[in-house]
Amino acid sequence: MSRIVRVFPSSQALADAAVDQIRALAAGAIAARGRFVIALTGGSTPEKTYQQLAHRKSDWGRWFVFMGDDRHVPLHDVRSNFGMSQRTLLNNVPIPPAQLFPPPTAVQPVEACAEEYDRTVRTFFSGGPVIFDLVLLGLGDDGHTASLFPHAAALKRTAECVTSSPPGILPPPVNRVTFTFPVLNSARDVLFLVAGANKAGTMARVLNPAANVEDTPAAGIHPVRGTLTFLLDAAAAAQLPAEFLK
Ligand code: 6PG
Repeated sequence: MSRIVRVFPSSQALADAAVDQIRALAAGAIAARGRFVIALTGGSTPEKTYQQLAHRKSDWGRWFVFMGDDRHVPLHDVRSNFGMSQRTLLNNVPIPPAQLFPPPTAVQPVEACAEEYDRTVRTFFSGGPVIFDLVLLGLGDDGHTASLFPHAAALKRTAECVTSSPPGILPPPVNRVTFTFPVLNSARDVLFLVAGANKAGTMARVLNPAANVEDTPAAGIHPVRGTLTFLLDAAAAAQLPAEFLK
């Protein structure tokens, strides 16, 4: 695995860089394999990136879009990660609807929803290795990423691609479905988008080689074949050791 940490003066500059990197990875995947398979992240940080991406060119007809995690709420609910992705990006670019794979959050209970999404992912990859071209991730103040929360049972799920998770300590307090570590770590590229002073201490923990994955799940992201890139704004990078700030 190679790891890259890039720090930008503002969240706007971070979003600009994220847009460039996502478009470049899409172009590379399409040139190499004829399609770009991406797992989007939720939360608030990626909204700016998604909005800007929607105004740029890409070979949208070759994009295939999943969510790395979502809240177990209807897709039109304001808390839905897929809903946010639709409003900011997916409704505004010509990706064929059949190439959008929202978590089936109408399926109850959340365990059955995760099982169905797991099947959708496996079927998409024809029962072979599940290798996303790009997984986007965020970082929670508590060290979670996707919906892999500190000390949650989901951290230990290795047989599933997708599992369910009860709410963590951060809002909103709803059940989740989430990709598991093996799927996240099988991606060709993983890109974290992290902004804000409230993330500074957690971000330093994630990059500490002694980090404990149970306490800081984001530290468990080590793509086996891919590149792990952190795009940070200056506030989120404020507590990083100097070696990361060259
Ligand atoms: C979610 C997420 C989650 C998110 C982080 C960061 O459903 O909330 O997918 O993992 O990426 O909590 O969120 P912010 O960007 O809002 O800080």
